[in-house]
Amino acid sequence: MKILVINGPNLNMLGIREPEHYGRETYSDLENKIKKYCEGKCEVALKQSNHEGDLVDYIQGAYFDNYDGIVINPGAYTHTSIALLDAVKSVQKPTVEVHISDVSSREDFRQISYIRAACISTVSGKGTDGYLLAIDHLLNHIQEDSK
Ligand code: DQA
Repeated sequence: MKILVINGPNLNMLGIREPEHYGRETYSDLENKIKKYCEGKCEVALKQSNHEGDLVDYIQGAYFDNYDGIVINPGAYTHTSIALLDAVKSVQKPTVEVHISDVSSREDFRQISYIRAACISTVSGKGTDGYLLAIDHLLNHIQEDSK
């Protein structure tokens, strides 16, 4: 099994940006944590960009490069981007939305997620461990689907 983990804008600033919301682990710590967690479970590729179009390209890449599913933290594009929603709908790959912070208890503008409509589930407010939960949701879903 082969999955793609995509991170959106400002997630490269983990460890520096607003530690009260996002903790002290760096993006590189997060990459290592995910790679280690996936060892023996699945193949994983990690992508990060601050640009919406790049994120669309990465999502489309899941189709063209035959990934089995996607875990995505779209960052602030969660709350603004119909392009990311359309991209996930286009590729028809199971996708789990993840947020490090608990977006449901934050500002009103964070209460909308466009991408959620195309996702099989959302993990929010579990810190960077949320990515591991999201990977488990995704792998279970793919396994159930192939039965
Ligand atoms: C975030 C939450 C978003 O509202 C915010 O814009 C981010 C990070 C999270 O991981 O908690 O950049 O997706």
